[in-house]
Amino acid sequence: METINILAIESSCDETAAAVVQNGRTVLSNVISSQIDLHTLYGGVVPEIASRKHVEKINQVVRLSLQEAGMTLDDITAVGVTYGPGLVGALLVGVAEAKAIAFAKHLPLVGVHHIEGHISANYIEHPDLEPPFLCEVISGGHTHLVIVRDYGSFEILGRTRDDAAGEAYDKVARAIGLGYPGGPKIDRVAKEGNPAAIDFPRTKIDHAGRGTLTYARGAQETGPYDFSFSGLKSAVLNYLNKCEMTKTPWNQADVAASFQAAVVDDLVNTAMRAAADYGVSKFAIAGGVASNSALRAAMEQACAERGITFYHPSPVLCTDNAAMIGTAAYYEYIKGTRSGWDLNAVPNLKLGER
Ligand code: KG4
Ligand code: ZN
Repeated sequence: METINILAIESSCDETAAAVVQNGRTVLSNVISSQIDLHTLYGGVVPEIASRKHVEKINQVVRLSLQEAGMTLDDITAVGVTYGPGLVGALLVGVAEAKAIAFAKHLPLVGVHHIEGHISANYIEHPDLEPPFLCEVISGGHTHLVIVRDYGSFEILGRTRDDAAGEAYDKVARAIGLGYPGGPKIDRVAKEGNPAAIDFPRTKIDHAGRGTLTYARGAQETGPYDFSFSGLKSAVLNYLNKCEMTKTPWNQADVAASFQAAVVDDLVNTAMRAAADYGVSKFAIAGGVASNSALRAAMEQACAERGITFYHPSPVLCTDNAAMIGTAAYYEYIKGTRSGWDLNAVPNLKLGER
């Protein structure tokens, strides 16, 4: 078999990343330069600063990824790059870099959907995993439940109607004084708290199996596998306000643990309902929130009880990285997907679109 080495680039948010992936599943290097410390000063990602930092770091990160793989550009078969969704200025840096390298070295260019990348992270450490399977993608910008029909082919069963799960983590963390990035901090603090201390709301599902997101914004139509996290976030804020007004002390660890319990319940219950309805035997999680320890434990147990094989990437492959983009690019490459020199950043690119 011909050896295919993909140089992959990811710059959709606040990580500048490059990786070399061989034949789809072997990661030869995975370099990530995080801007988290910088954005922590502002309590969240500042798009303009993110773009400028990507420009500063990208060449260095690409060079290092080749060095760590023990390769030069002459060993590369194709260049893969995230072109959406994400922050437009941030995406453009990676897209311009990938185009420049591919053009100079006469290499094929493969534009990759960021979420397809997150899903593909599961292939790296699970050589046995092949589509079809059910996947819950839970990140700072997205919450999707999808059937992966084939490589790069998806059926979306549900999505969030408002905030993404990671966004709720980040907002609640800020409200309880933990700061940015909220996910890992709540994960840690929640271990000291009581998840049953405060009864925060869960998504209600009626008898017909329709999602009645009782606290979703407005009266919009919701599907049976949709999510909603803005009501939960408001419930936490209301709880804190009420404590403030009545001068009742509140416990940071208990609020973190109780909030997390509500998020985990919704993510587990919706996924397991879909798994039963669609009769799936393989279930995977992906995205930054998929590195959450309470979620992983709960999913592990729920899947074991139902005889479903559970897959999840290592934490470093859950949050943004370029190895997952390299894997997704490989499967697109062997299908014949090629991007032109007019490849552009698409900030709101939908899953399954090109
Ligand atoms: O996938 P990702 O790196 O970027 C996006 O594509 O959005 O996800 C980042 C999100 C952030 O909201 C962060 O707070 C959350 O993932 N996150 C976590 C954990 N680690 C990162 N959430 C819960 N528990 C964690 N351990
Ligand atoms: Zn991401």
